[in-house]
Formats: sequence, structure tokens, C-alpha cells
Amino acid sequence: MKLINGKEVADTIKKTIALEVAEMVNNGQRAPRLAAVIVGSDPASLTYVGHKERACEQVGFESELLTFDESITQEELLAVIHKLNTDPLTDGFIVQLPLPKHINEEEVINAINPNKDVDGFHPSNVGRLMTGEDTFISATPFGIVELLDFYNIETSGKHCVVVGRSNIVGRPIANLLSQKNKVGDATVTICHSRTKDIGHYTRMADILIVAVGVHNMITADMVKEGAVVIDVGMHRIKDETKKTGYHLAGDVDFEGVAPKCSMITPVPGGVGPMTIIALMKNTIKAIKYRNDK
Ligand code: GUN
Repeated sequence: MKLINGKEVADTIKKTIALEVAEMVNNGQRAPRLAAVIVGSDPASLTYVGHKERACEQVGFESELLTFDESITQEELLAVIHKLNTDPLTDGFIVQLPLPKHINEEEVINAINPNKDVDGFHPSNVGRLMTGEDTFISATPFGIVELLDFYNIETSGKHCVVVGRSNIVGRPIANLLSQKNKVGDATVTICHSRTKDIGHYTRMADILIVAVGVHNMITADMVKEGAVVIDVGMHRIKDETKKTGYHLAGDVDFEGVAPKCSMITPVPGGVGPMTIIALMKNTIKAIKYRNDK
């Protein structure tokens, strides 16, 4: 069994991005600027945007964090988005999800300028992804594709089983892997909460991608000997032995499953660090889109 070390891959790619940014600045361009909008104080969201801020600093990006109280109204939030949409100094931005219940998430996502939508959540970018056009691929699918590519994991003709059908992970990664691409040409099965006997499908997977949000849902008996396993789950598990009072774990029972795999992502340190790279690469792409117009 070999670990897929997302942290190490992300650090390597970060160095390349830092060089690219330094070159832009040396050529008289300003540094890329990524903004993040966060509403409320969900601890996981705060951690995620904190990581983003730190990564931006490391590669020489400018970053801006716009934080708002839970009580923000739909109109106020839309006004923030309109401002970012037209701000010439902001290349790309994200609106951290989930949003509070009184906010219409769909309307918010639809309001984002598709050319600055570095999360790739706007329907026009989702559509472009579906048809294989150049676009912003959302962070987690992008990170997974980069990891498969970095480790030269063959996908062509392989059976890839995706557990989870979310708009931000399951559906886009399933679509990408089915496309005619270097990381693609796979036969893809999507399993979800209504799938009968999920293990029947997961046991057939050469590559198993799990993004369901259920801790330890995938156990050793559900995995084929020699499979590649990508775990997108991220859970805070109560742990009195830790200073923080918790440790992080995924959707896959790592202890049980790892010995059966040819390769597996750990949690933390697998897919997570790669999602930040995706945002930064997409922000550089946003500058190119702007300059091409
Ligand atoms: N919440 C969980 N994952 C994501 C993500 O990739 N982007 C945003 N904006 N919110 C999230």
C-alpha cells in the first residue's frame, strides 16, 4: 500500500505557482487577488478559509476575507457579490458554503460573475465542464484529477466508482473521469443514498472515490484488493487525547481499508490540501480569461 500524499503534492505545486506569481510581478503585473466571502461562524468553514488565506500568502497572492454575521440579508449578500463582480482588483472570489438557511444559495451562486467564479459553481461553468470546454473546475474534483495525474494512476478503461452525488464533488468528478481525457476514459458508476447494496458496486471499483459525508462508511469488506481509494470526507471526531479535543477522519475506515489498497489518500493530508491549489490555479486562469477579452 502506498499513501497518496496530497500535502506533499500541494507543496510542490505551490512552489511552481509562487514562481509564476513572482514572474508576473517582475513583469509589472499586480499579484493575483482571491477573495472569500464567509457568512456566520461554522468552524469547518472558518478553518477552510483560514487555510486558503495562508496558502495565498505563501505563493504571493493577495487575498481578502469578507466576513459577515449570520443575520445578513439576501439583498445585502447579493450587493457584496455585485461589488466583487465588478471590482477590477479582484480576479476571482468564492462564497463559502453552506450559507444560513434564510439565504437562497442558488440565487447567490447564480449572481457570481462566471469569469470570476473560481469555485466553478455557476451553472454556466458547470455546463462547460459537462461538455468538456475550458472552464473553472471546482476545487475538489480538480484536486482529485491532479492527484491521479501526479501519481500516474491509469484511469483509461478502469472502473471508477463514485460514492456521493453532490454538485460540488460526486457529479463533477464522475463526469470528468468519463470524458476523453488524459485523466479520464473511465467507466463510471455513481452510488448514492438510494443505491441498494453499495458494497456490490464499490467491490467492483478499480478506483473508488468517496464523498458522502458519513464517517467510516466504507469498510474493508467493501473494497477490492489492489484498489485505489480517494477519500474526500472530513470529520471532526471527539478525541480527548488531542489539544483541540478532536482529530480529523474521513468517510473511509482507513485502518481497515488501507492494507487492501494499492494506493489511498489519508485524512487529513490527502485531497484537502489539493483543493486550495485548485483555487489558486483557477484564480490565475481568471486573469487569463480577463486578459483574453
Ligand atoms: N464548502 C465545502 N466545500 C466548499 C468549496 O469547495 N467551496 C465553497 N465555496 N464552499 C465549500
